[in-house]
Amino acid sequence: MYTLLLSALCSVLAVRAAPLERRQTITPLTSAQIAAFTPFTHFASTAYCQPSSTINWSCGANCNANPDFIPVAAGGDGGSVQFWYVGFSPSQASVIVGHQGTDTSEIEAIATDANAFLTSLDPTLFPGVSSSVEVHNGFADEHAKTANQILSAVRTAISQHGATRVTIVGHSLGAALALLDGVFLPLHISGVSFRTIGYGMPRVGNQAFADYVDAHLSLTHINNKKDLVPIVPGRFLGYHHASGEVHITESNVWESCPGQDNTSTLCTVGDVPNIFEGSTSDHGGPYNGITMGC
Ligand SMILES: *[C@@H]1O[C@H](CO)[C@@H](O)[C@H](O)[C@H]1NC(C)=O
Ligand SMILES: *[C@@H]1O[C@H](CO)[C@@H](O)[C@H](O)[C@H]1NC(C)=O
Repeated sequence: MYTLLLSALCSVLAVRAAPLERRQTITPLTSAQIAAFTPFTHFASTAYCQPSSTINWSCGANCNANPDFIPVAAGGDGGSVQFWYVGFSPSQASVIVGHQGTDTSEIEAIATDANAFLTSLDPTLFPGVSSSVEVHNGFADEHAKTANQILSAVRTAISQHGATRVTIVGHSLGAALALLDGVFLPLHISGVSFRTIGYGMPRVGNQAFADYVDAHLSLTHINNKKDLVPIVPGRFLGYHHASGEVHITESNVWESCPGQDNTSTLCTVGDVPNIFEGSTSDHGGPYNGITMGC
């Protein structure tokens, strides 16, 4: 009788403890942690500005938000090649690489393109990475257009400023490119640490890619509310997010979501179960008050 009671009590406790435990590991960021992303959010937004204005840091509010930045190179045409820039941020003690994104309908079109497929990484750009690591061919093609120019600019920035850190940022398609650069650049440059911070990042590759990223790169991908871009391409097509999600909830809490594609309703996959429940207007932000665009 006593044993029965005890085990009944234990199972009640177990049932009650489980959701509490789960609740604890999805952790809200402190306001200081959220504020620490602000310069990088501006850097991601700045990538929407014309290269002629990022090369001398004259792009207005976006540039003025990081006033000490020293540009090294900028390029792209905003059409067939996304804008990008590279430089050094003394206040962040980091080289910054910024990649332009697209609007919601264009990124949705690319990510859900019925003709898209998963493909191995180009062994010239990504030497030594297993062919089982596959990414969306559209993202790989976009990345290849600027890969070598950016590699050369990052090398220059590192040597000019004695940098030990490289932070790659982008929003939307720019986040996908920033993730691919986060895999690509460390294969060619040693002795510095790399970090990618993406906003509204779509899924970029397969399970092996997500696992590769988890093992090799420091990644944070920040998703705003009901933004649908982070849930495309779908997991049913074989795409997976790497770890490092931060999900901004409807009540503006920044939740750090452990694991890959966490299905909790506090995280994007649980909060946005399909694109019909997603919102196109949440894609651009605001991310702690900052809306993406130049
Ligand atoms: C999602 O987060 C919970 C914590 O609430 C954790 O226990 C679980 O393992 C995570 N899920 C995945 C798929 O990583
Ligand atoms: C920045 O460069 C552009 C053209 O490349 C030029 O028109 C503009 O005057 C420059 N601005 C500053 C502040 O130097």
